Amino acid sequence: MTDFSNGGRPLAVVTGASTGIGYELAMLAARTEYDLLIAADEREIENAAADFRATGVDVQSVIADLATFEGIDKLYHATLGRPVDLLLVNTGRGLGRPFLDQAPEDWHRVVDINISGTIYLIQKIGRDMRARGSGKILITGSIVGLTPGTYQAVYNGAKAFLDSFSFAIRHELKGSGVGVTCLMLGATEAEFFERADRMDSKVGTEKQADPATVARDGFDAMMRDKGSVVSGWQSKLQAAIMHITPHGKLVEMDRRSSGPGALK
Ligand SMILES: NC(=O)c1ccc[n+]([C@@H]2O[C@H](COP(=O)([O-])OP(=O)(O)OC[C@H]3O[C@@H](n4cnc5c(N)ncnc54)[C@H](OP(=O)(O)O)[C@@H]3O)[C@@H](O)[C@H]2O)c1
Repeated sequence: MTDFSNGGRPLAVVTGASTGIGYELAMLAARTEYDLLIAADEREIENAAADFRATGVDVQSVIADLATFEGIDKLYHATLGRPVDLLLVNTGRGLGRPFLDQAPEDWHRVVDINISGTIYLIQKIGRDMRARGSGKILITGSIVGLTPGTYQAVYNGAKAFLDSFSFAIRHELKGSGVGVTCLMLGATEAEFFERADRMDSKVGTEKQADPATVARDGFDAMMRDKGSVVSGWQSKLQAAIMHITPHGKLVEMDRRSSGPGALK
């Protein structure tokens, strides 16, 4: 851990900043001259911190399991009472395979990472933001929240929760000075599919969006206080189809592209 020297810059907290979209979000915040407090649960976060420091801002990294309240408390305490100007809640993990074949501890962890840890952190930092009358929150949701997900039923349900939660609290906070934005993305180049054991699915192996572009879309939407943004024309098209197609049809389309046998 490194102490902030606090050169008068505002502070951004970014979770899941070691790889993928979170890394790109943190880099954007650093280049926009925000000091960073970043977190992930593995040592790789230290390498990312070194990259962000090279931009000239102060960076503090925390290794914590953000699926647990203890991990979130550790991250929160690392702010040392310094006001958080941007909160980018991005940590997430998928889980492939049929639900009945998944181990309870595995799907429970998906719920804890994507939902419980995420909203506990938002509540803690959101309360401080509301008391100060300023702050911006970006939640990494997903367009998969718009459709039931065969072979990733719990993950899609968790993202549906976040997409919905994001809009609900945005409107609860109307007039408070605190903005909430949901970044809704489709399949994006990251370690995500490998970690979710989904490299044998069509969606896991097709060409995917560039994480830097996706992060830029989310960051810009947050700075402009938009309620949500769907990143990329392909995801926009998919989201439009998801909005007008009955769930029964959607889920069958999804089964064909997401299933473990979809490559065969
Ligand atoms: N890639 C896609 O196609 C896609 C599509 C829609 C939505 N998303 C969402 O985008 C977000 C970012 O994922 P990504 O695609 O960039 O995947 P990624 O490369 O796997 O990044 C996930 C990040 O979350 C961190 N993380 C995971 N579990 C954690 C835990 N228990 N405690 C602390 N940190 C943890 C990881 O850190 P460690 O390496 O230290 O574990 C990593 O920094 C997620 O919310 C994901 O659901 C991704």
